[in-house]
Amino acid sequence: MPAIAGRLNHFTESVIREMTRVANQHRAINLSQGFPDFDPPAELVAAAQRALEGQYHQYAITWGAPRFRQALARKQTYWMGLDLDPDAHLVVTCGSTEAMMVAMMTVCNSGDRVIVFSPFYENYGADTILSGAEPIYVPLHPPTFEFDPDQLRRAFEQGVKALVLCNPSNPTGKVFTLGELQYIAALAKEFDTFVITDEVYEHIVYAPHRHTYMASLPGMFERTLSCSSLSKTYSITGWRLGYVIAAAEVIAGARKVHDFLTVGAAAPLQEAAVTALNFPLSYYEQIQAEYTQRRDVFLSYLDKARLRYTPPQGAYYVLVDISDFDTEDDTAFCMWLAKEIGLVAVPGSSFFAEPIRHLIRFHFAKCQETLVAAGELLLKIKAQA
Ligand SMILES: Cc1ncc(COP(=O)(O)O)c(C=O)c1O
Repeated sequence: MPAIAGRLNHFTESVIREMTRVANQHRAINLSQGFPDFDPPAELVAAAQRALEGQYHQYAITWGAPRFRQALARKQTYWMGLDLDPDAHLVVTCGSTEAMMVAMMTVCNSGDRVIVFSPFYENYGADTILSGAEPIYVPLHPPTFEFDPDQLRRAFEQGVKALVLCNPSNPTGKVFTLGELQYIAALAKEFDTFVITDEVYEHIVYAPHRHTYMASLPGMFERTLSCSSLSKTYSITGWRLGYVIAAAEVIAGARKVHDFLTVGAAAPLQEAAVTALNFPLSYYEQIQAEYTQRRDVFLSYLDKARLRYTPPQGAYYVLVDISDFDTEDDTAFCMWLAKEIGLVAVPGSSFFAEPIRHLIRFHFAKCQETLVAAGELLLKIKAQA
């Protein structure tokens, strides 16, 4: 048999999605892969049912159905403070997962260097390899996950094409401050570099922290590809609706990549999602309040179990320190947790470029009942520390 492509030797299948399979195998509570166990808004489900009765069964326009693009441009114009043209500034993709891949392939030539903060959402490693780019990892130092400004500058000095910014960040829960974003923006301008953002958690931020869009900073719209999706904001991870927002010249390139990767996102779901994009501001206030409550419930159990963690400022993940346990290996710890305790987390090492093995990641996008059940299991592991 001929050999398959060598580039596939440089990354593994997703550890996060593997841990969901482990959860199913052990019938354990799955706090690994980030998706909710509660329903999306009922109006949205009703809109999807109506859309399936309508004339939306064939391909939509490849870069996005017009009604979806118009609603998205209106919503993001409000939140990003930019004047977005639905015909020029965006391309609709199959989730932020495709958006990030499209963004990388749009700006990177083979061999280009790309800065990725570590720890990082595991897709970025594969995205760089598949697009032929070479990652330069810049550490976000635990437990506060700040970067060293000089180290970041030195990375830029190596000659980079783009920087990947996950904000709010998975897995750290970090929300980059305005000062940090301004510092990154200044370097991007000085070294003529693109910034590719992944902002899927843009609406899940805990007070007093605030989300700032990189593209909204002066002079940054021209060099930022803002990737995001509807997955997390509207609890519809299975609908696979995402987008890239960027300057018209960049979007002209991104449309081509997207067209040949997937042709387009599901037409009836784009039609249905217009309902979500038109939700009033109170919807976003409500999800903030609900996620704040979920976070507080889960963190209260971590406190009771005397587990150390970095409080998340945004997104719905928390990295928990397991150095008090008699283990050197986060993967073995997670397997033990799944099998013996019935709770599934992701080994932190799958997010770090550095050899860090004392952290595991839980997510808390779950209903109260699940969080309480998971919390009670956490109390059991307290005794083992
Ligand atoms: C940072 C980040 N980006 C992208 C995704 C996937 O988003 P989508 O469902 O839009 O592809 C996730 C899902 O967990 C994520 O955490």
